Amino acid sequence: MYLNEIIQEVFHEVDSLEAKGQVASYIPELKKVEPEKFGVYLSTIDNTGFGIGNCYETFSIQSIAKVLSLSLAYRILGEKIWERLGVEPSGTAFNSLIQLEVENGIPRNPFINAGALVISDILLSHLEHPKEDFLAFIRSLSNNRKIDYSSRIATSEKQVGYRNVALCNLIKSFGNIENEPADVLNFYFNLCSLEVNCQELSGLFLFLANDGCTLSGSRVLSQSQSKRVKALMQTCGFYDESGEFSFKVGLPGKSGVGGGIVAIHPKHYVIAVWSPRLNSKGNSYKGMKFLEEFTTKSQLSIF
Ligand code: DON
Repeated sequence: MYLNEIIQEVFHEVDSLEAKGQVASYIPELKKVEPEKFGVYLSTIDNTGFGIGNCYETFSIQSIAKVLSLSLAYRILGEKIWERLGVEPSGTAFNSLIQLEVENGIPRNPFINAGALVISDILLSHLEHPKEDFLAFIRSLSNNRKIDYSSRIATSEKQVGYRNVALCNLIKSFGNIENEPADVLNFYFNLCSLEVNCQELSGLFLFLANDGCTLSGSRVLSQSQSKRVKALMQTCGFYDESGEFSFKVGLPGKSGVGGGIVAIHPKHYVIAVWSPRLNSKGNSYKGMKFLEEFTTKSQLSIF
């Protein structure tokens, strides 16, 4: 109960802050989002929930989906997955090309765009109907049949996705992409286009709070894999702002340029925040502020 009161208090405090940051503009369809939207939803592993603000309005999940694509690929390939990508923070922007050239096409981690493209390639090679099977996996996580891709957003990103095209081709030139780059990119743009609201987003991540099992009891990842995915969220979930998020919030989390952030308190809760104005590192300005205040006031973090 007291967490709900803290959410209310912090929500109103952060909502009244001066509007800082800009809505992502490099994907034309994301530019159209109302910048002042602000929603929060907390789901617990005891199956309770509490939301405030625009928590039932859908937004574009963007890079948050990279945790879910990693989870499915990790479930399929097991530890062999780490032959194709690393587990180190990059310290660079999410769409940077710099390290790939010197590190022979092995992305630093699965959450930078380069790593998410390799994960997309793995899923393309292993799923019979990649687009449909990935969506079915997402829907099964919280038994939510409504979650879907947005072809409007995927098409919009495809039209301007030159950096991702460059990344995918560069990785392919090192032999770390098996499929045709155009197919890998289509799959990647689709997974980034998934639309969710804060309630749905927090529900999707409950299996990670619950040691790899959905609340209905199906095992998605082993306990060790679930630990490792959260460790990567802690160290790499916010690109070159991962240290800052860890320092201020103290929870494993993941952001997306749609303005969403999801954070996990293992064995306890998942909290999802959405506010589209982004800071200079591409992470939600109010989302970061909200979570910092929330973990400070609740005195609940993993540290
Ligand atoms: O590939 C891109 O640029 C976007 N689809 C996703 C980037 C993203 O969400 C980075 N996160 N903060």
